[in-house]
Amino acid sequence: MNINKHKNKKAKIQTKDMFSGIMGQEYEMLKLICPHSTEMSRLVGVAVKDSCKKNTNHISVVELGGGTGITTLSILLAKDDLSIISVDNESTMQNQAKTSLVNWVEEGRLSFIADDALTALKSMEPNSVDVVASAYTLHNFNHNYRADVLHEIFRVLKHEGQFINGDRYVLDDISRHTQTVQHEISGYFRVLTQLNKLDLLEHWIVHIFNDESENHLMRESLAIQQLKDTGFTEIKLSNRLEVNALVTAKK
Ligand SMILES: C[S@@+](CC[C@H](N)C(=O)[O-])C[C@H]1O[C@@H](n2cnc3c(N)ncnc32)[C@H](O)[C@@H]1O
Repeated sequence: MNINKHKNKKAKIQTKDMFSGIMGQEYEMLKLICPHSTEMSRLVGVAVKDSCKKNTNHISVVELGGGTGITTLSILLAKDDLSIISVDNESTMQNQAKTSLVNWVEEGRLSFIADDALTALKSMEPNSVDVVASAYTLHNFNHNYRADVLHEIFRVLKHEGQFINGDRYVLDDISRHTQTVQHEISGYFRVLTQLNKLDLLEHWIVHIFNDESENHLMRESLAIQQLKDTGFTEIKLSNRLEVNALVTAKK
């Protein structure tokens, strides 16, 4: 591996731009460094399918942070009679979804909003959406922004509408959480040094510090309490895979 080349490169890593640079361009690598993320995307689709079971009508889904479309595809496959508005504020990510999911766009089942989640939700009518789904997006929000987003999700959902989120939900046991993240980071090094992708490794490690910072951490019990406080019922955290878990809640 060419460490000198890597050292000499002036990496301009800014939290705000995380997904606009190399992480966004090589987002598919996440499947290798974090296989659980692929499973979580699949589980979001399964949860959407379950939530649609009793509903024979057309289902409207808003996806927050649709990114390159991995979870979007999983949701699209959940039910034929379902349409998605996918929101993301990074064109590097969203443009990949626009390309790979063009067939669903042409069918009229998928449309995109290029904006931040809060602004997009605020533009929507109250009680108008069956499902708000997301994967690996809410943990990127700082606490105040996330609280505002959750209030908006609750407002736009129909009565009995579902919130479904596959994401990093930090374990309440701090020591176990630290061990889990250490194990995760070892995996990033193992995979990305073998592939000689040191720039990408640097960006992901910097990103993990962002995820683990006090103003972003989505700790399991606090996250569940926050959903209760927002007004949600039937809140369930399931399918824990290390730091990842699926959360579902009903309006
Ligand atoms: C880790 S990626 C997850 C992408 C996708 N959900 C998946 O499952 O692969 C997080 C995505 O959230 C987007 N994002 C982060 N903050 C956002 C915000 N405030 N509003 C909208 N999208 C946001 C990022 O641009 C990125 O595409």
